Amino acid sequence: MTGNRFSGKVAIVTGGAGGLGIAICSSIAAEGGSVAVFDASQEQVDRAVADLEAEGAPVIGLCADVRDPAALEAATAQVVDRFGGLDILVAAAGGSLGTPRDLEDISPEDLDLVIDVNIKGTYYSAAAAVPHLRTRGAGAIVTFSSIGGRSTSPVTGIPYAAAKAGILGLTRRLAREVGPDAIRVNAIAPGLFLTGRLQGMFDAMSEHDRNEVLDSIPLRRMPGIEECVEPVLFLASDQSSYITGAVLDVNGGRFMAG
Ligand SMILES: NC(=O)c1ccc[n+]([C@@H]2O[C@H](COP(=O)([O-])OP(=O)(O)OC[C@H]3O[C@@H](n4cnc5c(N)ncnc54)[C@H](O)[C@@H]3O)[C@@H](O)[C@H]2O)c1
Repeated sequence: MTGNRFSGKVAIVTGGAGGLGIAICSSIAAEGGSVAVFDASQEQVDRAVADLEAEGAPVIGLCADVRDPAALEAATAQVVDRFGGLDILVAAAGGSLGTPRDLEDISPEDLDLVIDVNIKGTYYSAAAAVPHLRTRGAGAIVTFSSIGGRSTSPVTGIPYAAAKAGILGLTRRLAREVGPDAIRVNAIAPGLFLTGRLQGMFDAMSEHDRNEVLDSIPLRRMPGIEECVEPVLFLASDQSSYITGAVLDVNGGRFMAG
């Protein structure tokens, strides 16, 4: 779908150089928005910006570790300087970040990394964005949970489950706090989307675990990346103008909320 939902809007996408992040940036720009890619390394940021510029997107890229609140504040201020304001934050930086899945293999450092990037990173990104959204008089924040935080995924481990469940509490509480400022906050909870990184992880799983994933999807197929992007755009746009504090499961029916 290509419309004009983001005409005149400015969006920050953390993890914007990642598989889902860059697809979200590209689609927001295709619908008239200006996008800011925040990611962990300058090299990743530069590559993402070059790809987006090649598509004609109005884009700025900034190297900002979401675990660093001062870096996020500075980067967010730079976006506002460049584009004149901020309307949307998509907090996509996260993942299990190469940490092991099984309890006996997980170190305290692994646990800290997953909690810090996913939960604290979402918190710090939102804290940096909210003052600018308040200045604008409205805004939308989309956080990234996961099916791994909604149920017991065989793909990811306990730290990821805890972090992605924690993001739902963060999302609801933040939605309550900033609702009076016309800022909406919603979470997306994707099932398994085979971006480059995850294709390798999926291929490396045992056949038993792969079949467990496929057999548990009522729609009986893996999704295309755009099938996650569209729901994110819905939550980021005025199409969801009366939805806040919600979680949108995008998983082919693999987990159905009661
Ligand atoms: N792809 C899936 O199947 C899936 C499923 C459920 C949830 N998710 C969530 O969606 C989001 C995006 O996932 P993806 O598949 O695009 O993964 P990805 O690994 O391709 O992208 C994540 C991006 O976050 C960046 N990042 C990591 N640590 C960071 C830090 N400290 N500061 C700033 N950026 C950092 C990475 O460099 C990367 O570019 C993640 O939060 C992930 O947990 C993905």
